[in-house]
Amino acid sequence: MTKFLDAIDPAHEPPLKEPERQYYFMAKCREYVQKESERLGRPLFACTTTFGCQMNARDSEKLAGILEAAGYRTTAEEAADFVIYNTCTVRDHANQRIYGRLGRLGSLKKKNPQMKIVLCGCMMQEDAVIEKIRTSYRFVDLVFGTHNIFKFAELLFTMLESGRMVIDIWKATDQIVEELPAERKYPFKSGINIMFGCDNYCSYCIVPFVRGRERSREPEDIIREIRRLVEDGVVEVMLLGQNVNSYGTTLSEPVTFPELLRRIEGIEGLERIRFMTSHPKDLSDELIQVMKDSKKICRHLHLPLQSGSTPILEAMNRHYTKEEYLELARKIRKTMPDIAITTDIIVGFPGETPQDVEETIAVVKEVQFENAFTFIYSKRTGTPAAAMDGQVSKEAVKLSFDRLLKAVQETAKLRAGRLQGKILPVLAEEINEQDDSLLTGRLSNNMIVHFNGGHDLIGKIVAVELKECHGFYYSGVMLQ
Ligand code: 5AD
Ligand code: SF4
Repeated sequence: MTKFLDAIDPAHEPPLKEPERQYYFMAKCREYVQKESERLGRPLFACTTTFGCQMNARDSEKLAGILEAAGYRTTAEEAADFVIYNTCTVRDHANQRIYGRLGRLGSLKKKNPQMKIVLCGCMMQEDAVIEKIRTSYRFVDLVFGTHNIFKFAELLFTMLESGRMVIDIWKATDQIVEELPAERKYPFKSGINIMFGCDNYCSYCIVPFVRGRERSREPEDIIREIRRLVEDGVVEVMLLGQNVNSYGTTLSEPVTFPELLRRIEGIEGLERIRFMTSHPKDLSDELIQVMKDSKKICRHLHLPLQSGSTPILEAMNRHYTKEEYLELARKIRKTMPDIAITTDIIVGFPGETPQDVEETIAVVKEVQFENAFTFIYSKRTGTPAAAMDGQVSKEAVKLSFDRLLKAVQETAKLRAGRLQGKILPVLAEEINEQDDSLLTGRLSNNMIVHFNGGHDLIGKIVAVELKECHGFYYSGVMLQ
């Protein structure tokens, strides 16, 4: 990264080409931050807070990388000189949380008027949100969206220089800017975007409207990024996309997702490959085969079901039936008996009856998901489902939700204990939160294991005997 920053003369005009242009603005911001920190006689601190999914988590690492290049020190405290919220809008609850926390940030800013407050991410792509911030949250300094996140350094500089509220929201982009810095949360594992946006338009989902059309990164760019990460100590990557199974279809020379996986498998020093999320309609036999044959792809598939009722799935625009999902899950379990399948389920979709919920529960019982994230349907303005008849009452949804959750917990328990007594590789990820003589790590199937071990093992894969299953995690003993 410094190769770009050091070659820059901030006295010159900004370059037009990306990412050089952004490095130029990082250098400009650095001058500003340096001056400000001399004036205050202390470093400036920046806090990045992430809401929502793994995509946002990865975006936040990029934001943090740019803030660090600009000279800010990182802090987890929100009483900082610079606070950025990377927002989510997938459910209305997420939006309400942001407004609540923003109110508290406003109070902090009253005590420290120098403080800069910045909002970005999916929620900022909604017109109504921008209007509300413009009128009711005047203390916010900078607002940008998902499509121009690569311009963060430039926007940051405009904001610092102008001292007024800057709002820049793009409706779309086909640009993918490579080679921007990132500040990783974990030294030994990293998310990698392999594609952006979503073209599936599930009828309840706001993502295609806020993240735009599907675009895949060139395989060479992905491989180059992973190689660099591996040189920097990364042993596990999580390939990220809203629907990784349709990776590569928009490239000028199309590459399938299984083919991409094969190429990534060849990267020496990389030990584990994960990916998220798979859409059942696009999960091919070729992918199942590549997973089976692989030594590096983890034994975990996150395969959102959303509903177990075919008419509801049709209204959701999911393009598969209950039977097709069951058949797919059977095939996956048969080919890889040690795999963990996790899922997302929505209850309370318009028109859903108690009978539909029973069908969903029946699928849960049959597939025996290792884990399921259950969500109450949230009406998102602008999506087709928001205009559908038969919105379900809160009371009915609550009953369905509780019934579903019970089924999920029971079946998850059935599967979780199956590995007891086995000796399996575990990636040591962190010091145990409760007991610092223990480490916490993950199995290939994504289950958590707490085990004895020195802190120097963090980032390493070690053999652990799984002694006891406690619901969602194991306690184990490391073999020396
Ligand atoms: N209401 C409830 N849950 C939703 N999801 C997406 N949109 C909505 C919505 N409007 C859930 C889906 C998806 C997960 C990331 O969030 O289950 O898989
Ligand atoms: Fe939303 Fe469906 Fe795209 Fe997932 S696949 S982001 S649920 S539209």
